[in-house]
Amino acid sequence: MPDIFHDVFGHVPLLANPVFADYMQAYGVGGQRAAGLGAIEKLARLYWYTVEFGLIRTGGDLRIYGAGIVSSFGESVFALDDPSPNRLGFDLKRLMRTQYRIDDYQQTYFVIDSFEDLLRQTQEIDFGPLYAELEGQGTIEIETILPGDTVITRGTQAYARSKLVGA
Ligand SMILES: [Fe+2]
Repeated sequence: MPDIFHDVFGHVPLLANPVFADYMQAYGVGGQRAAGLGAIEKLARLYWYTVEFGLIRTGGDLRIYGAGIVSSFGESVFALDDPSPNRLGFDLKRLMRTQYRIDDYQQTYFVIDSFEDLLRQTQEIDFGPLYAELEGQGTIEIETILPGDTVITRGTQAYARSKLVGA
């Protein structure tokens, strides 16, 4: 997204947070191991669902940290308050298998408990074997909720359905 407003108001404040900066570094390490088939796609999902569209839960309050959401007033309100999308606890492996939308509001957001936890999960994992493990597991449809998910909000998906042709 080559957009000055988006970069300055969305990304720059987060990069000033040292823990988040470490997360970006850990992400880069994962990137260096992403040469194999399908790995770039998985890494792109991680970027999408954290750096661009991540939510964080602090003291019971849901907040936005993703720059893609911050850049859109409409999606800021939607991400936090609308009953339509799922809001699921962050799970690195699960998230890397989840499809996403680039053309509209998200149908699922992943919620971290802290930047420290996001960093820990990203640093603890060895990306090489992870890609191989996930390769055999297939992708997860955007709106799907799995039995193992931590469900913070089960979305109605009303917004997504309203966009379907003929609905
Ligand atoms: Fe961006």
